[in-house]
Amino acid sequence: MSWFPQRRQRTWLQKGCEAILTVGPVPKHVAIIMDGNRRFAVKKSLAKCEGHLKGFDKLAETLEWCLDLGISEVTVYAFSIENFKRSSDEVSYLMELSRQKFAKLLQERDLIHKHGVCVRIIGDISLLPRDLQELLAEAVSISSENKRAILNVCFAYTARDDICMAMRELAIAVKEGQIKNSDISEELLEKCLYTSYSSPVDLLIRTSGETRLSDFLLWESSFSCLAFVKVLWPEFSIWHLYAAILHYQRNYNKIQIARQNQTIERERLQRDSDYHCMMEEPSLETASRDSISCMTAPSPLSNTTEHKSMQERVQQYALEREKRIEAFLSGVYE
Ligand code: FPP
Ligand code: MG
Repeated sequence: MSWFPQRRQRTWLQKGCEAILTVGPVPKHVAIIMDGNRRFAVKKSLAKCEGHLKGFDKLAETLEWCLDLGISEVTVYAFSIENFKRSSDEVSYLMELSRQKFAKLLQERDLIHKHGVCVRIIGDISLLPRDLQELLAEAVSISSENKRAILNVCFAYTARDDICMAMRELAIAVKEGQIKNSDISEELLEKCLYTSYSSPVDLLIRTSGETRLSDFLLWESSFSCLAFVKVLWPEFSIWHLYAAILHYQRNYNKIQIARQNQTIERERLQRDSDYHCMMEEPSLETASRDSISCMTAPSPLSNTTEHKSMQERVQQYALEREKRIEAFLSGVYE
């Protein structure tokens, strides 16, 4: 099957549901753990690997539903680093399936451009066969200018591997003096993850009835709505997608509040950190440090010249920190 199958007409009931759902907030970014392919194959008396082929067909169908609903980013778990531990036959099958499907995607480049889909690969592709790496890189390259929607395919990915790689990168930067230890924050670590270009994950769907994340987007899903769906991935239907979106809409307000609180807390932590770092700057004379320290407690003196000078010093420190981080990140994103 193509990545862009022949469009099937929506029934009047589906059109009605879609019209009602899109009055409410529709998730911008949906992540999917496409689980249950092999159980589906067993259920249908197919060879186990054929379950993955059916799984791909379902992915193509689901992408079309998402595009129609105005979901602008979809992230799918296609192959985890853990999946390398499966039988060599199954791993080879999945690599071959991916080769075929990405080769097909390149043949269908007019359709990718027509639908405006930008493909990104998330994961350590150095673990994949060289020819597949090249196909993936080409798919990313030819679609990079497309703006309507983003498809992130997680390949040779686990969230913990991603977080470890980001931490390693930060540790090296500290060691080389590009950034300070105190510059490391949640925000900076996030900028070193594969998903740094992505919008927040609004809705994460897992099929097959399993209720765990299996090392998928662990950091990014902290404030996502989770939908665990009982059907096996090849059985996933447009109705399951509608139900998941409805579940998201029911939880929308709580999610927004949690995100806002997190932003406020991050800003507070950053202000505190800048203040303490500024106080520890060797350039700050002990005497003036003592006087500044007195000014930190809420006091009627808070508008005095000394307090203003303290605020300016903190701002100056924050500015320098931002410059350090910008220089470091420009190297990371090269
Ligand atoms: C999980 O089901 C599924 C996978 C490990 C592979 C998913 C891959 C696809 C749907 C094909 C995607 C292909 C491209 C080119 C993007 P499972 O194998 O764990 O099944 P089970 O839970 O029933 O054992
Ligand atoms: Mg599974």
